[in-house]
Amino acid sequence: MTEKRIYADNAATTAVSDVAFEAMLPYFRESYGNPSATHSYGTAAKRAVEDARKKVAESIGARINEIYFTSGGTESDNWAILAAAGLRKKKGRHIITSAVEHNAVHNTVQQLEKRGYEVTWLPVDKYGMVSPEQLEEAVREDTILISVMTANNEIGTLQPVRELAEIAGRHKVLFHTDAVQAAGHIPLDVRELGVDLMSLSAHKFHGPKGVGALYISLRTALPPILFGGGQEKGKRSGTTNVPGVVGMAAALEDAVRRMDENVRKVTALRDRLIEGVLNLPGAALTGHPVQRLPGLASFIFKDVKGGPLVAALDEAGVCASSGSACSAGAGEPSRVLKAAGIITAEDVAAPLRLSLSGYNTAEEIDEIIRRLPAALKRAASESVLAGPDNMDVD
Ligand SMILES: Cc1ncc(COP(=O)(O)O)c(C=O)c1O
Repeated sequence: MTEKRIYADNAATTAVSDVAFEAMLPYFRESYGNPSATHSYGTAAKRAVEDARKKVAESIGARINEIYFTSGGTESDNWAILAAAGLRKKKGRHIITSAVEHNAVHNTVQQLEKRGYEVTWLPVDKYGMVSPEQLEEAVREDTILISVMTANNEIGTLQPVRELAEIAGRHKVLFHTDAVQAAGHIPLDVRELGVDLMSLSAHKFHGPKGVGALYISLRTALPPILFGGGQEKGKRSGTTNVPGVVGMAAALEDAVRRMDENVRKVTALRDRLIEGVLNLPGAALTGHPVQRLPGLASFIFKDVKGGPLVAALDEAGVCASSGSACSAGAGEPSRVLKAAGIITAEDVAAPLRLSLSGYNTAEEIDEIIRRLPAALKRAASESVLAGPDNMDVD
C-alpha cells in the first residue's frame, strides 16, 4: 500500500483536535491534583473541572449543575436508562425505545426486559426514522421512560427528537436521547428539544476517548448507578478524569464555535461523496436523504460482504466501516438495516459507512471514489468465500 491513507471513519472515532490536546496537557504532569483534594493541587484541578462543566453546559444550552461527567457514551446511556427505570418503578415498568438504537441503549433496555420490564421497540420507516404518531400510540399509563437517539451511528438519520420529547412531556414520561453522534456536529439545545436526559461522548467530536457526560435536567432526580467516594455531587462516584473532561470541553466548545462553517464544509464533502458513489453500479444510499448527519454517507452494495469490502478498502488506503448484511446463518445482519427494511436476514449485501470530519478534503473524497470500484470488485470475489462478518458499528 503506497497510496496516501484516508481516514473516513469519524463516526467510530475522531482525531483529538489541537485545541483539545493543548488544553489537556497541563493536567497530566503539572496540575495533576485530585479535584476532591483540598490543597492547592486539588483546588486547581477542581477549577479546571468546573470550567469544563460550564463549557459543556453552555454548548448544549444546559445549566452548569445539569452536567455530570462519565467515562463515555456507554456509561451515560446505561446510567440514564437503568437509573430512570429504578426511579419510576412505582409508576410502572413499561419502556419505549426505537429499533435502531446503538447497542449501548439497545442492550441496556434488553437487560431491563430480562428483569421484567416491558419494552415497546418502535419501528422505523425506510430511512430509519421513528414516527411521532407511533410513539403517541405506544405511550401507556405505566410508561416510565422513552429513549430515542438524536442521530443514528450506522445510517446518519436524524430523529424528530423535539416532537418525540414533546409527546413524552405531555404524558409525564422521562425522555432520554443518545446524542453521541450528534453533539458537536449539529446544533443541540436541551431546552429547545425538551429532553430530560442526554448522553454525550467526547471522542466523537475531536475530544479524547473514555470521557463523556450525561445531561440531567434539574427536574429529574436521577439516582446514581456508581457508588463510592461521592464525586459529582454524589451522583457518579470515581475520581474525575481531569485531562479528559478538560479536553472534552475544549473540543465541544471549539466544535460549537465553528459549527456553521464545519457543517457547510462537511456537508459539501458528503454530498460530493454520495454523488460519486451512487454512480457506481449496485450502490444505494441508506438513511434519510436530507435529515442526516452532515458528515455521514452510508450505502449498501448488493452481493458483497461488509468484512471483505472494509478489508479491501483498507488495503487501498481508505479507512471505512461496515456493519454487515451477511447471509442467514453466517452471523447477525445489521439490526438497523433490517429495521428499516433495507435488507432481510437472507440478503448478502455490504453496508458501507464513510464518515467525514472537517479534516477531510475534496481531494480525499475524489480519491475514495477513485479507489472504491477496485475494492468492490475484490470484495465481491472474496465474499463468495468469506465467513461470518463482524456486525458491530460504533
Ligand atoms: C450512537 C452511539 N451511542 C453510544 C456510543 C458509545 O459511546 P462510547 O464509545 O463513548 O462508549 C456510540 C459510539 O460507539 C454511538 O455511536
